[in-house]
Amino acid sequence: MSLLSLGYIGISTNQLSDWLDYGPKLLGLQSVDKSNKSVAFRMDDRRQRLHVEEDGNEQFRYMGWEVHGHSALDQLAARLEAHGVTVHVGERALAEQRRVANLIWFLDPAGNRLEAFYGGEIATDPFEPGRCISGFRTGVMGLGHAVLTCESIDDLMPFYTEILNFRLSDFALRPFKAFFFHINPRHHSLALIETGKNGVHHLMMELMNLDDVGQGYDLAELREGNIGATLGRHTNDWMTSFYSWTPSNFMVEYGWGGREIDPANWQSVESEDGPSLWGHDRTWLDDERRAFARDLRLGAAEKGQRAPVQVLPGNHEVMSPNCLWWDGLKK
Ligand SMILES: [Fe+2]
Repeated sequence: MSLLSLGYIGISTNQLSDWLDYGPKLLGLQSVDKSNKSVAFRMDDRRQRLHVEEDGNEQFRYMGWEVHGHSALDQLAARLEAHGVTVHVGERALAEQRRVANLIWFLDPAGNRLEAFYGGEIATDPFEPGRCISGFRTGVMGLGHAVLTCESIDDLMPFYTEILNFRLSDFALRPFKAFFFHINPRHHSLALIETGKNGVHHLMMELMNLDDVGQGYDLAELREGNIGATLGRHTNDWMTSFYSWTPSNFMVEYGWGGREIDPANWQSVESEDGPSLWGHDRTWLDDERRAFARDLRLGAAEKGQRAPVQVLPGNHEVMSPNCLWWDGLKK
């Protein structure tokens, strides 16, 4: 009954035109199925990965988690109900709007809406990005990861780990308490950050090429106040990324080069060097914790914390060091 990956998300906005600008022109999403009050976005061969509705709010509305098929969905519903969670069966019209064969929906203890589905529709035409990017890394690892803010991680964790079977990847206690969870080889598909307020912090999308991210960073810098965290590299999933504010009060982490883990043999650890090896200056933190986060980065740098670059066939070439002192150093 395990969840496979983050399959889709839903967003509310009070200005559809803002998303029609931000989604394709900055993120490189393809807008499809636009009506007066809604638009869908593609990021791969799926017919729909994001669905944005103009309903007067600005918020992240739901996460759609994929399961294997009909019996997996039934088992998940039974398990949720056995733990006292109210499960709603998705009507046909809702499944059609989500572009899936079948779904259920339910709330986590903080009131976040989760959906579980199978049979995500595949488009008949190729993905055409909204700007010239190489593409998004999705497939079995899903569309990326979602990070929720919460009043209390302790209150939410049993729901995600004991009922939904998310496994702990690692955790950090400073500069803020953060727990990271995996369900597939992506280092985390979900994370919880304890900020004292329930909500959604960011959605991560991973690009196939580092230059997609750098060129996106140039574009984000042209938008006043749009950078939520500067270009940097994470300590735990090794993602090189920046964060920009969506029109709907949460951020998108736009990244490259995330590590893959082996879920069968993964041992969770406490991450003590802060969330980033370098960069990621967080404009959303208060001054005190922002300075503390910087001190943690400088501490990681002083210790010489580094991580190998994660590459795909076709997006790298191996170079020759051609340098005697380096060869000697390696020996
Ligand atoms: Fe992230």
